[in-house]
Amino acid sequence: MNGNGPDHTPDPLKMKATSGAGERKGEHSSHLTEEVELQGHVIDSLIFPKILDEITSLGGTFEIREIKVGSRRHDPSYVRLQVGADNTDLLEQILTRVGQHGAMPVHQQDCELVPADLDGAFPEGFYCTTNQETEIRLNGHWLPVHLQEMDCGLKVDLDTNTAACLPMTDVKRGDWIVVGRLGTRVFPLERKSEGHDAFSFMNSTVSSEKPKGVTVREIAGHMRRSRDGNGKILVVAGPAVVHTGSSELFSQLIRRGFVDVLFAGNALATHDIEQSWYGTSLGISMEHGGSTEEGHEHHLRTVNRVRRHGGIRNVVDEGLLTSGIMYECIKRNTPYLLAGSIRDDGPLPDVVTDVIEAQRKMRELVQGVTFCLMIATTLHSIAVGNLLPASVKVVCVDINPATVTKLADRGSFQTVGLVTDVEPFLRVLVAELGES
Ligand SMILES: NC(=O)c1ccc[n+]([C@@H]2O[C@H](COP(=O)([O-])OP(=O)(O)OC[C@H]3O[C@@H](n4cnc5c(N)ncnc54)[C@H](O)[C@@H]3O)[C@@H](O)[C@H]2O)c1
Repeated sequence: MNGNGPDHTPDPLKMKATSGAGERKGEHSSHLTEEVELQGHVIDSLIFPKILDEITSLGGTFEIREIKVGSRRHDPSYVRLQVGADNTDLLEQILTRVGQHGAMPVHQQDCELVPADLDGAFPEGFYCTTNQETEIRLNGHWLPVHLQEMDCGLKVDLDTNTAACLPMTDVKRGDWIVVGRLGTRVFPLERKSEGHDAFSFMNSTVSSEKPKGVTVREIAGHMRRSRDGNGKILVVAGPAVVHTGSSELFSQLIRRGFVDVLFAGNALATHDIEQSWYGTSLGISMEHGGSTEEGHEHHLRTVNRVRRHGGIRNVVDEGLLTSGIMYECIKRNTPYLLAGSIRDDGPLPDVVTDVIEAQRKMRELVQGVTFCLMIATTLHSIAVGNLLPASVKVVCVDINPATVTKLADRGSFQTVGLVTDVEPFLRVLVAELGES
């Protein structure tokens, strides 16, 4: 294609598909249809085949009315499709689903707004967000949606003419909420066309049998670019970082400015401080790898002592804590959020035990994040993954492929999974970041 945008000339290439159920041959009389269009790198990003698959697997039909395929790597493509279904509900369902992949109705109109009638709940039929860049149409103009996050609603501020994702718990009676899919459009993440990069191939590294050195080098490159002004780096970490003896490697990342925000739970902070005070993690000696006498009590004594002093900052300020991950965070003023969970001992006074409050704080802290490294925690990785817009590059490192796959299953090109032990990963990463 010449890259000059869509050309609505006649003589389209016509193709037709019918689903197995309710198959029809050329007759469309009782058949409801709507035309949708999509453009961009929809062929090489596999967005177009995904849309066709969605339509037919839901039981709908499609007819390609126009298609212009970009002939060079940077050229966008354009497709106009007629989507068909046997009833309004099915057509609506298909249009909602393909809309999430960027297929918009050709004839657009303003979005529909309804005031919330309750605190803490959306009106029925609310528009449900994805993690992809989204716009809404208001008074004939398209407005960007801010604070993009999946599984939220859309709130419109009519005074400032702005729109933002809104979590269900934060709905206030009288908020203007978008209902239905009309007047909304989504811009799915496209595969980058410039050369090879770990982030340009969906799920490509979710395997324990692939070379990791190159991927770690690319991750280091992204982290270096983020540190040097391209956005914030968020690290989500589990206690295995400490258990495996990787605290010092992680501390180096913080000292060298590669961690702008840390999300973790009670366990990472507790075992990190336990290691500084007792030389153990969950009672296991970091020196000889064996258990120590009464070592199983160390983490409880750790939590207790921090509680007696009122928090992690206090034990650092009082000179009681002089090394480790949490010490480095306090010393560098690196913001951290320790989210509570049912499993927590104590917990440490810094742990936010109200999950809604923890979510709110996380939402504040993820603003400006462009790169996220998730290491050795299923619980926090999945939770944080759902908070991030698709534009944030995510690396999930875990010894269990299931954790990595769950993250990658979010279906975006931006998630790279590495199935490996966290200690060698961090060792290679720190070495890579040490160069240049
Ligand atoms: N004493 C406590 O208070 C305590 C103890 C444990 C957990 N917790 C809390 O429970 C919650 C969940 O804890 P979690 O995140 O550890 O559990 P989780 O099960 O969510 O995640 C642990 C992850 O670590 C991975 N893993 C284990 N060893 C690894 C290694 N060597 N290399 C790479 N990956 C490895 C596992 O595959 C798993 O995915 C957290 O909030 C935590 O703070 C509290």
